[in-house]
Amino acid sequence: MNFNEGKMELQQLLSRVSLPELPKLLDWMKNSDELDDLLVDNNRVILQSIADDLRARLPLDAMLPSEATVHHKMQQRVRPTVHVDSFLYSDEQVDALCSEGTMSRTYCLSCGSFKTAPLDFISHSFSVPELQFLFQNVLPDLSGRTLVDVGSRLGAVLYGGYVYSSASQLLGLELNEEFVRLQNEMLHKYSMTDRVQVLHADVCTQDALLHSADVLVMNNVFEYFMEPSEQVRAWKFIMQTFRRRGSLLVTVPSLQDSLNTLQVPLQHGWVEELPVDYNIYLGTDADPEALRQIHLYRVM
Ligand SMILES: C[S@@+](CC[C@H](N)C(=O)[O-])C[C@H]1O[C@@H](n2cnc3c(N)ncnc32)[C@H](O)[C@@H]1O
Repeated sequence: MNFNEGKMELQQLLSRVSLPELPKLLDWMKNSDELDDLLVDNNRVILQSIADDLRARLPLDAMLPSEATVHHKMQQRVRPTVHVDSFLYSDEQVDALCSEGTMSRTYCLSCGSFKTAPLDFISHSFSVPELQFLFQNVLPDLSGRTLVDVGSRLGAVLYGGYVYSSASQLLGLELNEEFVRLQNEMLHKYSMTDRVQVLHADVCTQDALLHSADVLVMNNVFEYFMEPSEQVRAWKFIMQTFRRRGSLLVTVPSLQDSLNTLQVPLQHGWVEELPVDYNIYLGTDADPEALRQIHLYRVM
């Protein structure tokens, strides 16, 4: 049944509910999370199982000692910030960890007192609802196409693309060798190597790959991982190399936001932004603000 057929059936069903009972039922539909169970499919179960495996192999903040630049950049932020990886931890899991005292959403303003302020949370991965949104609502049918995830880290986009899309090839590029090993371990364990591959490489060395890619995904790749001068060089390389007409580019945040911060002009005539419908309900664990950060562009 498609959207319009479902809508008609629902309207017919609701028209049979007695009028005094109808507001209660509509309130339940809008506000209860009981209907969220309908959204859980086998794909989500597979992704959650990969997340369970990764959590067991990583520290709580899912960062590696080898990530010196990221540690340094996070310490430099004006407000205290912690990394909570959204692919590994849903809001519900964060709440559970906070109530057992393993994690905290606040920090103490004067040690030992109850005067606290909220911590800023950032994630270096897409959450499962964001992946579902990306592959089912942002990108078109990817049959026969190649998708490249620039900075694939834990591999969330690759696993998400495997279960939620028909892309013929999903390629991850990752600078950090330990993350490449971790992704390969998961890809073998979950038998995804027929369509997924990870390369240990800097995107700036991958001209041929960028020439042939149909879709490029860039989820806040450079900001925390490279110094501004290196970020400028990397963005210029992407604008000069990823140029095949009709290819798609997904960015978080928008290109304007990323480039303005670095004072790099967006190359005129390179891409056009395509509309994305953000009015989709993906369960209480989906953060509408995070979905709105996902932007889609087409190379002109
Ligand atoms: C924010 S994470 C993105 C994670 C993943 N794409 C996702 O959406 O779940 C960025 C990753 O990009 C990697 N990275 C940064 N600069 C890179 C470069 N020039 N080439 C390849 N990977 C890079 C970092 O090591 C980091 O793991």
